[in-house]
Amino acid sequence: MSEIARNHWDAAGYDERHSYVSRHGTGLIELLAARPAERILDLGCGTGHLAAQIAATGAEVVGVDSAPSMIQQARRNYPHLRFEVADGTDFSFAEPFDAVFSNAAIHWMRPPERVVECVSRALAPGGRFVAEFGGKGNVQMILNSIHTVLRRAGDCVPEERNPWYFPSIAEYTSLLEGNGLSVRLAVLFERRTLLDGGEEGMRNWLDMFAGSFLSSVPLSARTDVIAAVEDGLRSKLFRDDAWYADYMRLRVVAIKE
Ligand code: BEZ
Repeated sequence: MSEIARNHWDAAGYDERHSYVSRHGTGLIELLAARPAERILDLGCGTGHLAAQIAATGAEVVGVDSAPSMIQQARRNYPHLRFEVADGTDFSFAEPFDAVFSNAAIHWMRPPERVVECVSRALAPGGRFVAEFGGKGNVQMILNSIHTVLRRAGDCVPEERNPWYFPSIAEYTSLLEGNGLSVRLAVLFERRTLLDGGEEGMRNWLDMFAGSFLSSVPLSARTDVIAAVEDGLRSKLFRDDAWYADYMRLRVVAIKE
């Protein structure tokens, strides 16, 4: 399951080779508009960079992530802030939050119903949920190329190996409203995202994020399989010596009734 896949991430590599993840979170922080002394939960905080930006507004931030390696790195990066290991599908806090914030993490958390239940329970009445993550159609070109290459090798890639949840606006807003969260904004938009690392960008992305799809591939064949996935994508996602990911973002703001 996705949370388990995330639990084993190489947090230092994540910081070194995937820094665009938190760079793209800056606009979402503006939408959050945290005020001094507000209590904010950063759900899926990774190595803590966005939690630190939120804390700089004077808000009291708690960052949670299911991956102990991420939390260790977040504590090293920002020793003055509070970070805890917690599962996005099963968390609770004694004190309610004024806002739950989440960037590029919710698509890893399944089942989504449990995540939204936990978010709703964690918010004070009138509190806001401000989130952005992969929505319907996210990384579809990358997925197609992985499927084509693995199918050629006789692997039909069972759905259980898909760690991601990329909902449509209709699906996700229904889920929010069914859990007492009144939707104020929901938008699905394309964001081709430049990957760090030049020629190695797609390889690094596949290594870091798509490991569960490649779990059937023996280590000795992995380099060739990744090269074949790259070949299938080169004409679409490689430009001027750089790789892009075909991200579709779902951005939502909802208020606890
Ligand atoms: C994303 O941010 O959309 C994403 C990142 C890694 C894997 C899948 C999706």
